[in-house]
Amino acid sequence: MKLNKSQKLLRKAKKIIPGGNQLLSKRSEMFLPNIWPNYYKKSVGCKIWDLENKSYYDFAGMGVTACSLGYSNRTINKALIKTFKNGSLTTLNSYEEYELAKIFLNIHKWADMAKFCKSGGEACMVAIRIARAYSINENIAFCGYHGWHDWYLSANLQNKKSLDKQLLTGLSTSGVSKSFLGSIFPFLYNDIKSLEKIIKKNKIGIIIMEPMRSSPPKDNFLKKVRLLANRYKCVLIFDEITSGFHDYYGGIHLKYKVNPDMAIFGKSIGNGYPISSIIGKKKIMNKAQDTFISSTMWTDRAGFVASIETLKFMKKNNVQKKLVKIGKNIKSIWKMEAKNVGLKISISGQDSMPYLSFDYKNNLEISTFFTQEMLKKGFLAGNLASISISHNLHIVKKYHFALRTVFKKIILILRSNKKFPLKGPIKHATFRRLT
Ligand SMILES: Cc1ncc(COP(=O)(O)O)c(C=O)c1O
Repeated sequence: MKLNKSQKLLRKAKKIIPGGNQLLSKRSEMFLPNIWPNYYKKSVGCKIWDLENKSYYDFAGMGVTACSLGYSNRTINKALIKTFKNGSLTTLNSYEEYELAKIFLNIHKWADMAKFCKSGGEACMVAIRIARAYSINENIAFCGYHGWHDWYLSANLQNKKSLDKQLLTGLSTSGVSKSFLGSIFPFLYNDIKSLEKIIKKNKIGIIIMEPMRSSPPKDNFLKKVRLLANRYKCVLIFDEITSGFHDYYGGIHLKYKVNPDMAIFGKSIGNGYPISSIIGKKKIMNKAQDTFISSTMWTDRAGFVASIETLKFMKKNNVQKKLVKIGKNIKSIWKMEAKNVGLKISISGQDSMPYLSFDYKNNLEISTFFTQEMLKKGFLAGNLASISISHNLHIVKKYHFALRTVFKKIILILRSNKKFPLKGPIKHATFRRLT
């Protein structure tokens, strides 16, 4: 098979970088093995240019949901260029961190203090350390995905499949100390009984959860979690790294009017520039002073500036309302075109982050074919179509036409009982060793 420039480079990269890159969900194998345009040269709005200068519209996640203001957003860039000219890291601190803390605390009236770091996973680690420093009981109940750190992956020590029902399946505990065994327990979203059961049994001091991933809370689920946390004196942490600032300015917990004791944000708060935040109540956050939490690069000015500008831009331009409107449109396109040809699909996710699945046994094969055919038509398209304000009506219309043709092809192949004509292997859905 003739490889494109990106795939040739990826083969070489795999020899010197384990797995070829730094993030599982950006690996070619998660989209279109051996074919995906793995690397980009340039990006503007929702358009990306690959190493061969071919351009694509991004309907495959917009930087793993981080870039809802569009790539290379002019307003954010302008502020950052000024920042870089004045120096982005010195012996002294950036005054912007105070301004950013004030913005977060103004949005979240229930919180009194804020801390910042760079990635989502480390922000979760920081929140867990502070919560453990505060809480009498150190065991954790969790729901959802919270990054790659030991405290989280150790859930798979007692049962290899503990994490399978959260976000990523097949995560290995290789390299995770066995000393974490029995410190963290999963519960299921919208299943309050599963949470109460593990709290009663396992001396839980901390509950960490995504307030929403694929489906909305049912039957006052978030309120019930809050009440359980109060009753059993647990620190309640909402991880809004993916859900935050998408459908709702500030985070999905504000929409449902349930306040945690701590909340974590990342990804979209800097429109792709590295910044994450942890906010919380004073009595808990102050415990950060009793434990050692500190890192040089957390003082970098660019992240603070990017986040201040991003949050201001979002507020001024009513961004969340626009994202929801475009996302609803995408969901209705999927629904209508699937119905027209008789294709069985499921649609989930916040409106600003629509998620498409094909309801067939060979869903991965179908999904790979979908990505392959959409790519030919100039679209990066997978199951997740995170929306940005750059996805204007004109671009969505083009996507609609392309999708209509591809859905028709899919149903014809399904009806013929033939194999899907894939040019490479089927995409992966799980963590696998790739080198
Ligand atoms: C809810 C949630 N928590 C934590 C993380 C980890 O964030 P990062 O990849 O920035 O380390 C993610 C990433 O997808 C996430 O969605």
